[in-house]
Amino acid sequence: MKFFVDTADTAEIRDLAETGLLDGVTTNPSLVAKTGRKFLTVVEEICGLVAGPVSAEVTATDFATMLREGHTLAAIAPNVCVKVPLTLAGLKTCKALSAENIKVNVTLCFSAAQAILAAKAGATFVSPFVGRLDDIGEDGMQLIADIVQIYRQYETFTTEVLVASVRHPIHVVAAAKLGAHVATLPPDVLRKLALHPLTDKGLATFLADWAKTGQSIPQA
Ligand code: G3P
Repeated sequence: MKFFVDTADTAEIRDLAETGLLDGVTTNPSLVAKTGRKFLTVVEEICGLVAGPVSAEVTATDFATMLREGHTLAAIAPNVCVKVPLTLAGLKTCKALSAENIKVNVTLCFSAAQAILAAKAGATFVSPFVGRLDDIGEDGMQLIADIVQIYRQYETFTTEVLVASVRHPIHVVAAAKLGAHVATLPPDVLRKLALHPLTDKGLATFLADWAKTGQSIPQA
């Protein structure tokens, strides 16, 4: 399972990229707005921090403008993945950009029917938002199960399922059990995956016992 980080904060991305655990980055207009920085500058900087796909979202809603914005974003770096909304105009844009071998992430997916259309439009990724479905009393993870099952039925569907709107580690584990290709995680959720109180407790005991030996390991 690939891990992307869902942020436009370049300090966070740099820090997490250094762990070697990061396969890509996703941003959206809200995350970019939070930084207060120029969008294209931020995207260019992120593309230099990670080798994997960096999703950058168009902000128009009509086909012609989305296509032009998509070309602008794709020209920033070879690892830009143009993010388009799951609307008919967005799908048309996805089809056109994919035909030019530009990576596309179709976002704001809330149903299996929408995910089928994203695959038919040649999307590189489809982003179902699990947390926002859970928020309104629906079952976000059931949508992941449905999409994974449907995509497996058709060899021609090469779109990867990118689990988005992830709120906690349980979302990540559940998505991994279903075989989702990617999860995009807020930085704090990515860090939480490594945490367990028994790890901390066990380490403290090992170190205390080691200190009693008075030994140290020679540094190579
Ligand atoms: O970037 C898309 C998605 O991950 C946003 O999540 O937390 O705003 O629902 P959230």
